[in-house]
Parts: sequence; structure tokens; C-alpha cells
Amino acid sequence: MFLTGTQRVDEQGHLTIGGCSCVDLAREFGTPLYVMDEAAVRTRCREYTSAWGEAFEKYHIAFAGKAFLNKAICKLIAQEGMWLDVASGGELYTALQAGFPPERIHMHGNNKSADEIAMALDGGVARVIVDNTRELETLNAMAMKSGKKAAIQIRVAPGIDPHTHEYISTGQVDTKFGMWITDGVIPASEGAAMQALMMAEKMEGIDLRGIHAHVGSQLFDLSCIYMSAEIMLELASAFRDASGHPLEELNIGGGLGIRYRWMERPLGIREFANELARILRAECEKLHLDMPTIQAEPGRSIVGEGGTTLYTVGSMKSIPNVREYICVDGGLADNPRPQLYDAKYEAILANKADKKPVRIYAVAGKHCETDVLIHEAPLPDVEPGDVLAVLSTGAYNQSMASNYNRLPRPACVFVQDGRARLVTRRETYEDMMLTEVG
Ligand code: LLP
Repeated sequence: MFLTGTQRVDEQGHLTIGGCSCVDLAREFGTPLYVMDEAAVRTRCREYTSAWGEAFEKYHIAFAGKAFLNKAICKLIAQEGMWLDVASGGELYTALQAGFPPERIHMHGNNKSADEIAMALDGGVARVIVDNTRELETLNAMAMKSGKKAAIQIRVAPGIDPHTHEYISTGQVDTKFGMWITDGVIPASEGAAMQALMMAEKMEGIDLRGIHAHVGSQLFDLSCIYMSAEIMLELASAFRDASGHPLEELNIGGGLGIRYRWMERPLGIREFANELARILRAECEKLHLDMPTIQAEPGRSIVGEGGTTLYTVGSMKSIPNVREYICVDGGLADNPRPQLYDAKYEAILANKADKKPVRIYAVAGKHCETDVLIHEAPLPDVEPGDVLAVLSTGAYNQSMASNYNRLPRPACVFVQDGRARLVTRRETYEDMMLTEVG
């Protein structure tokens, strides 16, 4: 078992987060419940901004909203002075509804619709991260029509295969994201990325600022990000030589891994920034480039460890010599990651957090699937009614939740200094009927 952020065990043996007892939170708000440790998230934001601020002269950190997006986090990110990366019209809408300053928003998407491009232009987002030439042409035409100039970065695929789950690898040559630099045969000077840069440079409605790449997520070995950044600088240098236009911005995407289990040791944010800066400085010197503004888009490493999901234990099933199942009141719909990526989690029995584990349980959900959240969870004796806290669920849980089996999506509370603030109310059965018009 490990504790993160402000998690503690109080004198009653209950797990607390942000000074709030998880047993009380479960009683007050019901379960399943997403609990976000506000201080832990703010600490991560400040670690990024201070580490990047020390390592680079010019930088922006944009929180990747896909990891966890609601109005409350948008406000928190805005207060922390960070930028925000949105990847769809819906994410952009949420950010604008929360009052997030558009001049600090990046708009992503590998297949942006004309409506989404219009939303980005009308909303006045800071950067559109352009994925392909069709989008580039549409954006240019729409910007010119409205008398605007869209500030963009071109998304490139550096041709790197990171060591992470294939579903969350995005920077290799064979990817739907961005434009390939070289396929190994055609040189970078003739690759899709260079062609798009040359096109963008000449477009009247486009203000070409830089390049972007995101190679993968939940990375412990960041050498693929460093390598990607070097490849991007080489491209920037070749483009400068070909066009006379130096690129001002280098956006390295997200990817830093977090701790889901006690034995995992992700790299620290400061070490990441320092190593990246060392490599980029050397490369810029070699290529006679000025150091660009270095941007990053961390998602998981901002919110992942700050999130905990509380469940109530219901049915239990003992299969002698095989497995002890405990079933919780959520599962696949509030956390699809074990099924999708074979993700591993740890849990604490929140109302018996001071007791030693005595048995290995399998934690199963309540969906009509074999939705085992944790195959082997060492826990004290479990009884129906116990509150189970699954750790490090802050990233890609609420944001990927569904209504599978028509389960209403859980509520979300932000906790800090002994206070809990409801930021997303629990969905109701009636909510699910709102879109039913037939
Ligand atoms: N920027 C871009 C362009 C991205 O595609 C992503 C994540 C990020 C930033 C943030 O990456 P992070 O810092 O969170 O690793 N649903 C999967 C993760 C998919 C990540 C997709 N892109 C999961 O639950 O593990």
C-alpha cells in the first residue's frame, strides 16, 4: 500500500484525503465517487511550472484536458497560470464555459470537423495544432474568410516507438496522428511534415509558430521524448534552411508516467525538465538554432495520482482454492482502463486503512462483463458495506466514463483542508433520458 498527496490514515483508521474522511465522503455523496485531491493537483502544476521555468527561458505548460476535464479543473488550471490543451469541440466548449482564457488554449484533433475549426477560430484559441494538410487548407480558407490569421503548430510523427501500451503509442511512423517526417526511405527534406511546413508558411490565413509531437503516454523511460525533441529540432533546422523561417515553438506533448502501484518509480518532473533542457541546448547549439519556446502537454502526471475512486463493497464470492471476489458498485463504466490497457491498480479499504492485509481479493465491478478492476488486491478482511478506495484514478477515468449497462456516471468532489466541494453531481436515470427523443 502507498499513500499519495494529502492521503493519511486518521485515528479511527479511516483513509482521509484533503483532510476529509473517505468514509464520510462515501456517506455524504454516495459511491462510486471520484475524489480529487486539490492540493496534490496544484502541487503538480507548480512543480511543472517551476521546473520548466528554471530549465527554459521561454515555456508554456498546457494541461491535457483529455485526462480529466470539468469546469472545476479548468478553473484550477487557469488559476495556476497554465495553458490548456483541448482535443475536441466538446472539450473546447467545456473550457470556454468555465471561463478559461482562450488565449491560453491549444486545439488538437486528428479529424477536426469544419464546425470544430470554426469554434476554435471564433473562440480565439491561442494555437490550432494542425494534424494534416486537408485541415491546414480548411483552416486557412476559413481564417481568410473571417479576416483572421490562425496561429498554428504542425503535428509531426517523429517515427519513434515508445515502450508503452500500443493503444497509447502515437509517435511512430505508422500512426493516424500528425505528419511523418521520414518513412526511413524518403528523406525528411521531402517528407509530409516538411511539405506541410512549406505549405503553411505561404498561407495568408496561417501564422506558423512551430511543431508538435506526442509520442506516448505513461512513460517511465523518457528517452523517446528526448529523441523525438531532437528529431523535431533537426526538422526545424532543415525548414529554417529551406525557407529562412525559424520556428519559434517546440511542443513535446505529454507522456510522463505516474505511480499506480507501490513499486513503480516514475521520473520526477524536475529531472525530466533538466534532462530535456540539457539535450535541447546541445542540439540547438549543434544546429545553430535559438532555443525555441518549449511547450509540454502533461495530462496524467498532473491529475493521475490526485484522484481516488471510492466504491462500496456489495456481493462477495469465495471460490475455494481459486479466488475470493469482492464486487463493488462501479467498474468498467467508471474505469475502463483495466479492460482497455490491462492497467493495474492498488486499493485500500478506506474504513479499515489501519488494518494489515490478510488475503488477496479480486475486485470485480458490477457490469455484465468480466470487469475485474484489480486481479490481486491484498486487503484486510472485507465485508459488504466496506468502502474501497482505488488509487491513482485521476487521469482517464472520469473523462473516459460511460453509461454502460445504463449506470449513471459518478459524482466528483474536490477535497482540500477538510472541505469537500461537489464539482460534478451524480448522473440520474432522468439525465439519461434527456437525449431520448424517440
Ligand atoms: N498531448 C497529446 C497530443 C496527447 O495525445 C496526449 C494523450 C497528451 C498530450 C497527454 O498525455 P499524458 O501526459 O496524459 O500521458 N486513455 C489512455 C491515454 C491516452 C493518451 C492520449 N493522448 C489511458 O487511459 O492510459
